[in-house]
Amino acid sequence: MLTRNAILPDAQQIHALINGYSQSGTLLPRSLPELYENVRDFIVVEDEGKIIGCGALHLYGPHLTEVRSIAVFPQYKGKGAGRLLIDALMIEAERQHVSCVCLFTRIPDFFGHFGFRTATRQELPDKIYKDCINCPKLHACDEVAMVRGELPKYETVDLNHLNPNEFVRIRA
Ligand SMILES: CC(C)(COP(=O)(O)OP(=O)(O)OC[C@H]1O[C@@H](n2cnc3c(N)ncnc32)[C@H](O)[C@@H]1OP(=O)(O)O)[C@@H](O)C(=O)NCCC(=O)NCCS
Repeated sequence: MLTRNAILPDAQQIHALINGYSQSGTLLPRSLPELYENVRDFIVVEDEGKIIGCGALHLYGPHLTEVRSIAVFPQYKGKGAGRLLIDALMIEAERQHVSCVCLFTRIPDFFGHFGFRTATRQELPDKIYKDCINCPKLHACDEVAMVRGELPKYETVDLNHLNPNEFVRIRA
């Protein structure tokens, strides 16, 4: 197995991987046009030249990046592909000089293997204003926020009074 940066022709396989897990609500669905647009965020893992898994790193800025859409085809689970993907995404985060990596998950134990620790959404306003603000589960979120590295320093976000115009990040 080896990892590499995704390229446009990989988008259909990435689409199949993610959407195979989106009907159950495990992953957020991603459309093919959206994947084409963001394919440079993705790393894929191949086994004998065939894509068996993918994962993405969304950059918010030097203070924060987010691991997204990490998936391995069911028949290839448990063989180390997930670990290879996380390792490759962490190397990319380091290459980009990002100080904190976050993610939102229902399987925190998996990410705990890789040094992620539990945080709160309120500590990650970039995510709240990018995704949560439009999510029907804003006040009933069933995902665990996790981070690795130094949390960015922000004003605390009040989930009941979100106002994008007042989103002020405080950098120490
Ligand atoms: C999560 C997922 C990517 C893991 O991929 P994988 O290839 O099976 O993982 P690996 O074989 O590399 O496992 C790495 C380690 O994590 C552990 N692990 C794997 N899945 C786990 C889980 N769901 N919970 C806790 N630990 C888990 C493995 O036991 C292994 O530990 P070890 O190194 O001590 O033996 C894969 O199960 C998957 O695609 N799940 C569905 C999509 C999903 O839930 N994505 C995450 C959304 S946030």
